[in-house]
Amino acid sequence: ASEDLQAFLDFAILLAREGGQLILEGSKARYASQGTVFWKAGNPADLVTETDKMIEEVVKKRLKERFPQHKFIGEETVSSGEDSALTDEPTWIVDPIDGTTNFVHGFQYVAISIALTINKEPVVGVVYNPFLDEIFTASKNSGAFLNLSTRLPLSHPHPPLPLPSSLSQCLVATEYGHCRTPHVIDRKVMSIHNMVARPGDNKWSESGKNAGLVHGVRSTGSAALNLCTAAKGQIDMYWEIGPWEWDVAAGVLILGESGGIVVDAYGPDEGPADILSRRFLAVRAGSPAPGDKTSRESQLRLVKEMW
Ligand code: IPD
Repeated sequence: ASEDLQAFLDFAILLAREGGQLILEGSKARYASQGTVFWKAGNPADLVTETDKMIEEVVKKRLKERFPQHKFIGEETVSSGEDSALTDEPTWIVDPIDGTTNFVHGFQYVAISIALTINKEPVVGVVYNPFLDEIFTASKNSGAFLNLSTRLPLSHPHPPLPLPSSLSQCLVATEYGHCRTPHVIDRKVMSIHNMVARPGDNKWSESGKNAGLVHGVRSTGSAALNLCTAAKGQIDMYWEIGPWEWDVAAGVLILGESGGIVVDAYGPDEGPADILSRRFLAVRAGSPAPGDKTSRESQLRLVKEMW
């Protein structure tokens, strides 16, 4: 029932704010003491700090006390070897710090991400960036909000343009991710090349058609915040192979509730992406009205161009 979802959402908001405060304190302490950064599984591009682990422990404990029957999947709990199978049971999926590399470097695109899934589907999602004090929230069928009262996508004071009808006018986010084997990176770099390079030796055409496929490519370093930035309407698409369920579960719901869509980046299934699939192609809300048929058609047109 929607009252239950509201109660779950309210608790997730409390936890996200508490976690956010710990992120800020952890950040100050790290600079003061040059805190240790660890590599995950010996990968120097996949970082974890004591702050990630401590926040996850706090959030996990508070959830266990409040909802003892619910299951829990957390980035650091899974890293320590605990079972992470997602079932139909109510399950909290938590990333204590999404954008750990940003956290380590003081680049303020950092968020705590908390989602509740039921029947493997996100029904509550909260993403909180404590540095910018921006909290993104959604519960199933109730819309998505910035700072609890501003409905997403933003309409004031800087409303997004109508969703472009072609990739050539899109601003797209993507990430290099943690997997740095040359084979994987070559494929990602080639995809980015295909998005930004002017095809062949053609001169710029007056129509702008030969100006590379997209207007620009951005990387925030946080999958959760990429999805929320699309929910705001500030990027048109986000594409990434590699994120885990804790990176995306909350953001997928927030984007969906704002009228956006997330599908399998490998296509051609136009249905919603499985949060366990680790390959996501997201498109922000279309126009004229988020969620209507015309909007979905314009979103799918962009998806097909990208595939
Ligand atoms: C990572 C970030 C990054 C994305 C990776 C994620 P973490 O999460 O979201 O932007 O490229 O796929 O794993 O490790 O900072 O929690």
